[in-house]
Amino acid sequence: MTRAPRPWWRSAVVYQVYIRSFADADGDGVGDVAGLRRRLPYLAELGVDAIWINPWYPSPLRDGGYDVADYRAIDPSLGTLPEAQAMLNEAHASGLRVLLDLVPNHVSDQHAWFRRALEAPPGSPARARFIFRPGCGPTGAEPPNNWTSNFGGSAWTRVADADGRPGEWYLHLFAPEQSDLDWTNSEVRDEFAAIMRFWFDLGIDGFRIDVAHGLAKAEGLPDASTVGWPPPAGEPVEHPHWDRDEVHEIYRAWRALADEYEDPRVFVAEAWVQSPERLARYVRSDELHTAFNFDFLLAPWQAQSIRRSIETTLRTHSAVGASPTWVLSNHDTIREVSRYARRQGVRPLRTLGDLVDLPPDFALGLRRARAAVLLMLALPGGAYVYQGAELGLPEVEDLPVDVLRDPGWELSDHTERGRDGCRVPIPWSGSAPPFGFSPPGASAPPWLPQPAAWSDLTVERQAADPGSTLGLYRRALALRREHPALGGADGDGEGEGDGEGDGGGGEADAAGDGEGEFSWLPAPAGALAFAREPGFACIVNLSADGVTLPSDATLLIASGPLTDDAQVPHDTAVWVTTGPREETPI
Ligand code: GLC
Repeated sequence: MTRAPRPWWRSAVVYQVYIRSFADADGDGVGDVAGLRRRLPYLAELGVDAIWINPWYPSPLRDGGYDVADYRAIDPSLGTLPEAQAMLNEAHASGLRVLLDLVPNHVSDQHAWFRRALEAPPGSPARARFIFRPGCGPTGAEPPNNWTSNFGGSAWTRVADADGRPGEWYLHLFAPEQSDLDWTNSEVRDEFAAIMRFWFDLGIDGFRIDVAHGLAKAEGLPDASTVGWPPPAGEPVEHPHWDRDEVHEIYRAWRALADEYEDPRVFVAEAWVQSPERLARYVRSDELHTAFNFDFLLAPWQAQSIRRSIETTLRTHSAVGASPTWVLSNHDTIREVSRYARRQGVRPLRTLGDLVDLPPDFALGLRRARAAVLLMLALPGGAYVYQGAELGLPEVEDLPVDVLRDPGWELSDHTERGRDGCRVPIPWSGSAPPFGFSPPGASAPPWLPQPAAWSDLTVERQAADPGSTLGLYRRALALRREHPALGGADGDGEGEGDGEGDGGGGEADAAGDGEGEFSWLPAPAGALAFAREPGFACIVNLSADGVTLPSDATLLIASGPLTDDAQVPHDTAVWVTTGPREETPI
C-alpha cells in the first residue's frame, strides 16, 4: 500500500508573530520586518514549523493593523516588499513556512475603495462594495438596524452627502474606521482572489482568515435578537451576521484557488462560533484547512472541562476528516499565565474585564501554563504558540491608560481596557527596557512599556537556564519532532488519515489526522492521561493530589519537578514512553 506524505499543516506548530511587538531593527520602538528577519534563527532553533504574521499592510492603525488601507504592500513603518520577500526566502531556507493575515470582512476607511464610496452617490457601484443603507425614522436619523459593533456602540455610522446634508449609514462590525465589505458583490470576491494570488505568487504559504465567521450577512439585514456572541452554549441561535451558512460557499471558492498551486496553500480560520460542531463546518474537506480552537483556549483548567473540549474537538473534526488545532492564547486574549493564575470555572476568561474580582497567583499560573503546553503539544493535530508564551510572559494588566491603543478602550467608554496587555514588546536581553527589543541608541522607547520585572524573563536569561520556560518549549518541540507517536520523523505518514474520519466518539476516538492514534488512559479524578501510538503517554495532573507514574513509564519531559517518590505533583504534566499500554494502570 502506498501512503501519501502527510501534509505539513496537519500537525504543524505555528508561532504567531505580532510583528509590531516582536523585534525592532530600526530603533523607532515598533517591531518590523528587518527585526523579524534577524530573529528567524531564534524561531528555527525554538523548533516551530511555521510562523503566522499579524497584518503588516499599510494601515492607519485604528485596530492594530486590522484596518487595512492597501492589501498589496507593507506598511512603511514595518519595511518594504523586497525586504518581506527576503525574509520569506530566509524563512523557507531555514525550514519555516510563512502565513499572513487576510482581513476580508472590512477595510480601513483610508482604503481607496472606501474613499471612493464616500465621494460617490447613494446607489452607485462604488457604494455597492460596502453595506450602505438609508437610516430609519422620518429623517433617517436612526441606524438601519440594531446591530452592535464588537468594540461597543452601534455598528452603523452616518455619512454626509455631497451637499453636506446627513446621508446614508454604513455598516462596521468593528470600529467605525473598519467598514464592512459586501461579500455578495462580485468585485469584492474578485479583488480578494487577486490579493491572495498576489501573496501566493510571492511564495507565502497560506493565510489566517480574520473574522471568518462574519462575511455573510442575512438578506434584508434584520435586527439581531441576541447581542453577545458567541451566545452561551445551549440552543443554537441563528444570527444575522455571525456564522451564517452562506459564508461557506466563499471558502469553497478559496480552497479551489489554494489547491491550484503545486505546493497547495493553506488557510486557518479565525471563527468564533457557538459550538465545535459549527466550527467543524469551516474545515470540511473542500473549505478551509484548519481553524483555531477557541473552545480549548477558553476551557478552564479543570480536568472535566479540558477533557470535554478535547473529546468534542476530536469527534467533530474527525467527522469531517479535518485536523484539529490547539491554542492557549493570541493577540486578542489574556495570556495563559494570567488566565490560569485565577480561580477557574467561574466564567470564561477572555478579556481583562473578565478577571475582575479574581485575585492572581502568578506562580500557579505559570506552573499551569507550563503543564498546558505539554498537554497541547501532545495532542493530535496542529498547535499555535503566541509570541512570548514560550517565555511564560504574563498579561500586563496595569498599563497606564494614556498608552492604551486598543479601540475597545475608547469605544467602550473606558469600561474595557482592551488587548494591549498581551501585545507588549518581547524582552530579548539585558536588564532594563527595551530589553533588546530595540537596538542600542534607539530613538524611541517600545510602543507599549515593558515591565521592569521582565528582566528575569528575557530570551537571553532563559536560554541559559534549561529549567526555564523557554528551555521547556525547546525540549518539548524537539521531542515532538522526533517521536513517531507525535508525528515526528519516524512516524511520517503513520496511520494514513487524510481521508474521511470515522465520525465515532468515545474513549478511543482517533483524530483521523494521520498521526499516532490517540486514546484516553484511566486516570485518577482530576487528572488526564492519554496514549499516542506507538508507546507514548501524556499525564496531566490538574488535581491537588500526586499522581503515580505507570510502572513501565520512562520519563521524557516534565513541566516541573516530580516529587521525591516520583509522583506527578499538582498542576504538572509529563510525557513518558510506555511499554504495552493495555497494562498501564495509573
Ligand atoms: C480579529 C482580530 C482582532 C481584530 C478583529 C477585527 O478578531 O484578531 O485583533 O480586532 O478581528 O479585525
